[in-house]
Amino acid sequence: MNRPGRKAIRGRLLDFIADPAEAGEDGSYRYIADGAVVVDDGKIVSIGAAADLPPDMPVDHYAQALILPGLIDTHIHYPQTRVIASYGAQLLEWLDKYTFVEEQKFADPEHAAAVARFFFDELLRNGTTTAAVYCTVHPQSVEAFFTESERLNTLMIAGKVMMDRNAPDDLTDNAKRGAAESAALIEKWHGLGRQLYAVTPRFAVTSSEAQLEAAGALLRDHPGVYMQTHLAENHAEIAAIREQFPWSRSYTDVYDRFGLLGPRAIFGHGIHLSDEEIARLSETDSTVAFCPTSNLFIGSGLFDMARLRARGVHVGLATDVGGGTSFSMLRTAAEAYKVLQLNNQNLPALQAFHLMTRGNAEALGLADRIGTLEPGSDADITVLDASATPAMAHRMETIQGNLAEELFVLMTLGDDRATLATYVAGERLYCAAEI
Ligand code: GUN
Ligand code: ZN
Repeated sequence: MNRPGRKAIRGRLLDFIADPAEAGEDGSYRYIADGAVVVDDGKIVSIGAAADLPPDMPVDHYAQALILPGLIDTHIHYPQTRVIASYGAQLLEWLDKYTFVEEQKFADPEHAAAVARFFFDELLRNGTTTAAVYCTVHPQSVEAFFTESERLNTLMIAGKVMMDRNAPDDLTDNAKRGAAESAALIEKWHGLGRQLYAVTPRFAVTSSEAQLEAAGALLRDHPGVYMQTHLAENHAEIAAIREQFPWSRSYTDVYDRFGLLGPRAIFGHGIHLSDEEIARLSETDSTVAFCPTSNLFIGSGLFDMARLRARGVHVGLATDVGGGTSFSMLRTAAEAYKVLQLNNQNLPALQAFHLMTRGNAEALGLADRIGTLEPGSDADITVLDASATPAMAHRMETIQGNLAEELFVLMTLGDDRATLATYVAGERLYCAAEI
C-alpha cells in the first residue's frame, strides 16, 4: 500500500557501489533502464523496476533522463560568486586585487543573505546538493549561509574563514576572536538539521601560528567537525610559507604541526607536494580537493591525481568558485579530464561520475548518507539529460545505448542546461521545465 507523502522518481537509475578505478567498471555501478526511486520523509525507501511500483504511487517521470545521486562539490567559496572571471592574475595577486575586495562586502548581513540565496539557486540549477563551503571572516556570513541551507534542508559543510594576518584590516580577526566566533558557530550550527561545520583557517599564509594552534584546539574540542584549508596551490604561496614558517619541513608540515590533518580534513589543490607530504596526507586519511577549472584559470599547475591516489590519498573533485570558473560539476569533470590528459593520465566517465557522487561522499566521510541511491540514504537526487543542447543531442545520435559514452558526452558537453531537476531530501527544489 502507498503511504501519503511517499512518491517515486522514475527514469534511468544510475549509482555506484564501488570505485570503478578499484573494482573495475563492470562491478562498480547499478543501472536500471526503467527504474524508480521511492522516497518518503526525506529518505530513499527503495529502488527497483518502475513496473513494480504500486499503481496509486505519485510519480515524477523523466523518460530518457538519468536519475543520479545529487552531485557533491568538495571545495567552493560562496562569497566569490562575483569573483569568477576576474582577469589576469595568479593566486596572491588575485586574492588581493579581487577576492579580498569582494569578501569585505560580507560584513553586511543583507548582502550575505542575498548572495547566499543566489549561491544555492546556482548549485541546485547545476545538480549539486552538497558542498564544502568557505564563508568569509565575518560570522554573519556563516549565519546567512546556514540560515538559507537550513531553510532548503540541504546537507552543507561550511565555516567562518579564520585569518589574522596578510589581509586587509576589515578582513582579519585575531587568534582569540577567530576561535571564539568559530566555537559559537559550531555550537549553534554543527549537527543542526543537516548542517555540518568546518573549522576554516583560509591558508597558512593568512594565519599566525597562534591562530593555527587555536584551529587545532577547536578540532580537539569538537570531535566530528571538519577542517578545510588550502595547500600547495602556487609557487609564490609556497615560498611565502617557507619564509613565514622557517622551522617547517614543508607546507603540509605546518598544518601537521598544529594537528590539522585527519579524516575530516579537506585540503584544496595540493598541486605541488613532495613525496613526504603525500605520505603524511595518506597516513592521516586526509582528503585533497582537485579543482581543475581553478588550477587552469589561476595558472596554478596540473594536479597529479595518479600520484596521490597511488599513495592512498583520498581525492575529491571540486569547483573552487570563484578561482574556479563554473558551478557545474560536469564542466569541472570535463576540465579534470583535460588536466589529466596533459599528465598522460585518464579519467574515464564512470570514474568521473563516481567521483562526483559516491567518491566525493566517501572523501567527506558521508557515503552512508549521500552520494548513492541506497535505501536509507537521504533523498538528494539529480536528474540529468545527455541530450540537453543541440550539440549534445547531435552527438548522442551516434551513441547506441552505451552508458559510458553517454556519460562522457554529458561531462564533456554538459553544464547547468543538462540538469532537468534537483531533489533535496525528497523535495524537488529545482526543475528546468514542467514535466
Ligand atoms: N588560497 C587562499 N585563499 C584562496 C581562495 O580563496 N581561492 C583559492 N583558489 N586559493 C586560495
Ligand atoms: Zn579555494
